[in-house]
Amino acid sequence: MVPALEADALTIVRGGQPALRGVSFAVRPGEVHALLGGNGAGKSTTLLAFLGFLAPAQGSVRVEGADIGTDPAHARRRIAYLPENAALYGHLDAYENLGYFLGLAGLRAGRGAIDAALDRVALAAAARTRRLEAYSKGMRQKVAIALALLRETPILLLDEPTSGLDPVAIDEFNRLLRELAGAGRTVLMVTHDVYGACQVADRIGLLRDGALVGRFEATPGARIDTEAVHAAFVARETA
Ligand SMILES: Nc1ncnc2c1ncn2[C@@H]1O[C@H](COP(=O)(O)OP(=O)(O)O)[C@@H](O)[C@H]1O
Ligand SMILES: [Mg+2]
Repeated sequence: MVPALEADALTIVRGGQPALRGVSFAVRPGEVHALLGGNGAGKSTTLLAFLGFLAPAQGSVRVEGADIGTDPAHARRRIAYLPENAALYGHLDAYENLGYFLGLAGLRAGRGAIDAALDRVALAAAARTRRLEAYSKGMRQKVAIALALLRETPILLLDEPTSGLDPVAIDEFNRLLRELAGAGRTVLMVTHDVYGACQVADRIGLLRDGALVGRFEATPGARIDTEAVHAAFVARETA
């Protein structure tokens, strides 16, 4: 089976320093894959590499088998990307924001489709016609996630998607991700939320200082063990 996403011995240099050092992993179609790591571990860098925004110094990046260096258009067509700080317009309401950003992607969606997406992320109906400047961070994040859903791409890259969401919203969001994966979509999310990642991911890769230092996998009967991942996350390198 061709992986949906694949990094092979990927090294990325940013500001003269390696941000990723020989990272290899693959994400299967229909999988929820999480990369966990602290600030500066290289999480966002990994997503930018899959979008073709950062070129490998060494190694390769493939999207559904297509090398990002030779075929960046394939990746852009197949991937919806939720950046860490989604830039939405405060003076526009949810419908206007979604209509505008879909238009930038060359897409169009009617009220019905937009409402369906906002239903999925559980944004209150009454809020949808309010300007985003009156929204909480969690509400804005829901609009950003709805935008990613409306792109209807088979692959979703999510940068810290649950930061700023309360536990109930995180729970709803994780349920949505499982539903999307169940329908065959592939999710690569990066986060520092150990609990949330263990709750939702089929597999977790632990990034530290640009290197993959741990891998965890759920089994059919059990989700990934939060304590084990937490211990690995906080472990200091032992000499
Ligand atoms: N715009 C940039 N220019 C130069 N270096 C950067 C830039 N953004 C991030 N880096 C560096 O790349 C490394 C990985 O950063 P990043 O991928 O953003 O980490 P994370 O998303 O895990 O917090 C860090 O050492 C960071 O300082
Ligand atoms: Mg980041």
